Amino acid sequence: MRSKVSVIGAGNVGATCAFRIAERGYADIVLLDIIEGLPQGKGLDMLEATPVIESDVNIVGTNDYKDTAGSDVVVITSGVARKPGMSRDDLVLTNMKIVREVTEGVVRHSPDCIIIVVANPLDAMTQLALHVSKFPRNRVIGQSGILDSARLSTFIAQELGVSVKSVSTCVLGGHGDTMVPVTRLCTVGGIPISKLLPEDRVAGLVERTVKGGGEIVALLKTGSAYYAPAVASAQMVEAVLLDKKEILPCAALLEGEYGINGVVVGVPVKLGKNGIEQVVEIELTADEHAALKKSADAVLELIKVMQL
Ligand code: 2OP
Repeated sequence: MRSKVSVIGAGNVGATCAFRIAERGYADIVLLDIIEGLPQGKGLDMLEATPVIESDVNIVGTNDYKDTAGSDVVVITSGVARKPGMSRDDLVLTNMKIVREVTEGVVRHSPDCIIIVVANPLDAMTQLALHVSKFPRNRVIGQSGILDSARLSTFIAQELGVSVKSVSTCVLGGHGDTMVPVTRLCTVGGIPISKLLPEDRVAGLVERTVKGGGEIVALLKTGSAYYAPAVASAQMVEAVLLDKKEILPCAALLEGEYGINGVVVGVPVKLGKNGIEQVVEIELTADEHAALKKSADAVLELIKVMQL
């Protein structure tokens, strides 16, 4: 039997993510949005693509949470995107209302699902979904580290003229200006990046990664990135549905790991059928640890704003 995945929000991230999952063929998909006709139209369009993409999945667009009932995984993409000049944190007051309502709808009909949050500000919205759902921490996961790591990998591959498949990167921390690209752990074909590029070049690529979302917002002018965020979310869905036990950087509630307690922040986790099956603790240098702590403190500020 195929699994069931619901994607909440039929905007660019939601629709792209839904289609990516449809291509894989292992899950039927419900695409939900509050705008009448939008999820139905996009869902039908995707369904009509299934003979070409050779996938037998069913795709339904809806405005009714009842249709999401019994989902194995729910991806929450709802919320407004930032405009040029805004930070992700500027979205907190608007998106907290949306994510709260969405989470309530999701939990009512799929009490056993695993939730993947993609709405911004990512870490704070993940914390909110955890709070509202009352799910254990393994079942509420935020998507950001895969995206941020993919950006850094892309820039390194372009700089060196090598395949992206040769590059492995590790970006921890919150999905914002305080993110923590751990360049000490970035490798190309197993070779530390420090052996291949001078420090100032690496610093330039890191800087571009930290500002990566903003670079795309500035280019698009209306809306934010969606191809990379969508496929990153789909990778998490796949790791869960196929019980892959994949180690991926994700936003997770820390309960003492890395000396941080009660705050959602990006760390390496093992993703499998139970969601977060392990928070992987790696040894950090004092500087890296301080940067991670600073990132968690920035998330804490938003938690205060949300009065959780
Ligand atoms: C980004 O970094 C939208 O937060 C997303 O592009």
